[in-house]
Amino acid sequence: MQKLYAVLNNYAKEENSMRLTKKQMERLESLLSQMTTEEKIGQMNQVSSSIVGGFDIPMSELQEMIKDGRISREELEEMMDKAERDYHEEDIRAGLVGSIMGNDPKKANELQRIAMEESRLGIPLIIGFDVIHGLRSVYPISIAEAGSFDDALFEETAKMAAKESRAYGIGWNFAPMIDVARDARWGRVSEGPGEDPYLASRFARGKVRGLQNDQSEVGNYVAACVKHYIAYGACEGGKDYNTVAMSSSQLHNVYLPPFRAAMEEGAATVMAAFNDLNGIPCTVNQDMLRDTLKDKLGLRGFVVSDANAIRECITHGIASDNTDAGIKAVMAGMDMDMGSRIYLNELKGAVEKGLVPMSVIDEAVRRILAVKLWLGLFENPYVPESVISLYEKEIPAEHIALARKAAEESIVLLKNENNILPIKKTQKICLVGALAGKAEEVVGAWAMGWKVRDCVSILDGLKNAGADVVYYPCCGPEGEINDAQLSAACNEGDVIVAVVGETRAMSGEATSRTDISLPGKQREMLEKLLETGKPVVAVLMNGRPMAIKWESENVPAILEAWHLGIQMGNAVADVLFGSVNPSGKLVSSFPAHSGQCPMYYNHPNTGRPAGESKFTSKYVDAPIEALYPFGYGISYTKIKYDDISVTEQNDWLNVSVMLKNVGDTEGVEVVQLYMQDVTASLVRPVRELKGYQRIKLKPKEEKKVCFSLNKQEMGFYDNSGKYLLEDGLFRIFVGGNSKDTLMQEIMVSF
Ligand code: BGC
Repeated sequence: MQKLYAVLNNYAKEENSMRLTKKQMERLESLLSQMTTEEKIGQMNQVSSSIVGGFDIPMSELQEMIKDGRISREELEEMMDKAERDYHEEDIRAGLVGSIMGNDPKKANELQRIAMEESRLGIPLIIGFDVIHGLRSVYPISIAEAGSFDDALFEETAKMAAKESRAYGIGWNFAPMIDVARDARWGRVSEGPGEDPYLASRFARGKVRGLQNDQSEVGNYVAACVKHYIAYGACEGGKDYNTVAMSSSQLHNVYLPPFRAAMEEGAATVMAAFNDLNGIPCTVNQDMLRDTLKDKLGLRGFVVSDANAIRECITHGIASDNTDAGIKAVMAGMDMDMGSRIYLNELKGAVEKGLVPMSVIDEAVRRILAVKLWLGLFENPYVPESVISLYEKEIPAEHIALARKAAEESIVLLKNENNILPIKKTQKICLVGALAGKAEEVVGAWAMGWKVRDCVSILDGLKNAGADVVYYPCCGPEGEINDAQLSAACNEGDVIVAVVGETRAMSGEATSRTDISLPGKQREMLEKLLETGKPVVAVLMNGRPMAIKWESENVPAILEAWHLGIQMGNAVADVLFGSVNPSGKLVSSFPAHSGQCPMYYNHPNTGRPAGESKFTSKYVDAPIEALYPFGYGISYTKIKYDDISVTEQNDWLNVSVMLKNVGDTEGVEVVQLYMQDVTASLVRPVRELKGYQRIKLKPKEEKKVCFSLNKQEMGFYDNSGKYLLEDGLFRIFVGGNSKDTLMQEIMVSF
């Protein structure tokens, strides 16, 4: 307890982090002293509403029915919405529930009223929900938004999400997802900020600040829940939930940094990952939870398991039964059980038998109550009626504007042969691709709480922009080509815009794939469209990097538009017509072939770097380099880099470069700083991102861009978790992507 309060007190000095006042700490202690063992364990129990009695048809059959088209996804969602649900009111009344999931503000108020007025101690619930990239106002999926390299944007969109969450009764967002991910076969790459630990750390900081720091009103902030701790993104083969084995140095240098950054920013809670790490499931991993996260990194609030993960420790083969799983989890430092009810059913007995000390339970409860107190839930448990009716009507205009800005900044131009883009308003557009007309597809994976009436499809975006457009769906990621529509499409328009990619259901959880090329018959459709000889623009709408070698060789213009959220259509139209000059960059390398996964720019050096010679590290049937590397993205203007300079000054390296906009269009360039530690006591990456800036340049404008790199940030962790700064030769690179850079070497001593 002393330690926990030292943490909370210590941070109490910091502006805006999760902190408690002395009065709140006293209240916490007073509550704890009144709680029975059951009530304490109740706080550690998270539930979600369950459907009463189930459906007449089993869930597996319903899923089959969606697949073969007997019912639509919308019909299933409607059935789920209408089904009678059990919200565990009795358990709440008895003080046996600490948290519930949900996004219904009226229901939230009803349940809070039971907790506040009918439970013995009147402790409010903390209502959690997956608000990963927005709630009502959905902004781009994280892999897209991270590509804006805009820290202020990361923060602003999170702020918007926090406000909307509170308006729906949610005080706790299961976000940000900050898993570094380097294997595009893993469907969850969509949810996170890509393959680089430095960018992921800045993304994590922005998101935590946005969710938590505006504490001026209760309605403005929520508790962040950074996830999935730890190394979930390294699941073997990109297969979801799979095993993870890695060295301690890799863990510390690549997968931990975003979590370390989030802890420094004061993130209130953490969700443990499903996977095992070197044989120990994260759910019961004492070294990672209690020792590293809580003791070393100083987590202020609590840790929650992933859904049903405590029970899954039995399936992992690490626990013999529910009791064993519950004991192992709580002893490892897992404070809250998501969904398995194992804590509720098993922990009291374990405490009585002396298998779990009461001090362990008390610590968990202190952490949970601390977050509830900090959120102001005791004083403000309810969503005001006025706020509920506001959102029933519409989304605030400033949220829509921000969703549009975020979408615009996230678009990446991959190719623009013969300046096909931007399209002139006088040109007639033939729009094809089923994805282009489906408003509900713009939201992407892990979006819940949106309304289709708020979503702008690409078709609608073009119409809103006043385009002269005809539309033929022709073919989507699933199903056959509609030949009649395709031949009609081939005869229309001055320019063809083909929207291809993945449905929103194709990325996110449990969507790993072995083949990440364009799904279905979409390539065939592109072939036919190209045969017309008309200019063709491919707009990609997807949740993961795609292996698009053929497309990059054959389609003259390619725009990576990801799943951009509710304003997708307007943002895509802005870029297609050139009212917005694209500035987004890729945060995940695009391979030429699926078989090259995992592919990432910051790989360790080998003794035989890939080259002409056969006996080097490469595939004999694939290009050596990424099709489009990390950091890549072009625009409607051209930026020239010159005159790199690197000098050492005390604790800093001063790096500068001259940038010139040699085109006729104003543009924003994401200038990227990389380094390589040439000789070290451990093999180091060929390049590592160490800084970035968004620089706006008018036509013909020149600017000197300066970076100050703190030498303390040039080290690395060894295999005992020790941070080392080793003197020697470093290469410093600056450029507009991770491959095309200027370079200067410098000897550095620390
Ligand atoms: C996911 C988490 C999510 C949780 C609650 C799990 O299946 O892995 O990311 O927060 O469900 O919905």
